[in-house]
Amino acid sequence: MEHTIGRVLLSRDQIASRIRQMGEQVTARLQQESDGTVTPEEQGIVLIPILTGALLFVADLMRHIPLKLSINPVTITSYPGTATESQGAAIKGGIPTDLTGQHVLVVDDILDTGRTLGLLRRLIQVQRPASVQLVVLLSKSKVRDEDVPVDHIGFEIEDEFVIGYGLDFDGYYRNLPDICVLA
Ligand code: IMP
Ligand code: MG
Repeated sequence: MEHTIGRVLLSRDQIASRIRQMGEQVTARLQQESDGTVTPEEQGIVLIPILTGALLFVADLMRHIPLKLSINPVTITSYPGTATESQGAAIKGGIPTDLTGQHVLVVDDILDTGRTLGLLRRLIQVQRPASVQLVVLLSKSKVRDEDVPVDHIGFEIEDEFVIGYGLDFDGYYRNLPDICVLA
């Protein structure tokens, strides 16, 4: 079947203004969680973007979090090749092992079956971090394989396969500035 770029679901301007709001919410929550010990100078915040999909999102989001933080990307794959159905989350590497006492922010492009964030969340929780926030740009409205408590959602969308702004089909289309439906 031929796949092409379908209608624009979320424009670059919609994405940009929502991410600005999300950055403010995440920052406020981090300051709350840490009883004010997290300041622009204080260390202890670790951003964990899930590559490759969250590449563009985290780059934009982190510029709206004016706190001292480090970034530790992990690679998890669930849609190998031309699959448009999740094949289950497989970790490709980079899971940090030193999160005890840290304020952790997991950033993903889209919540679909919930398996990716569910898996990563468990691997983080056992390390006893000071706090964990899960942030996703998109959330598909559907019944999930795993119920994950996500703290910040950019946009709720229908259960359609989307591309652009970091999201791919078979490795392509990540560079589209808008989020589009795969036609
Ligand atoms: P989950 O484990 O099923 O929640 O899948 C999450 C991952 O699958 C996301 O991080 C995306 O990389 C990928 N994914 C899920 N839905 C889509 C989509 O519509 N387009 C592109 N990638 C998707
Ligand atoms: Mg992903």
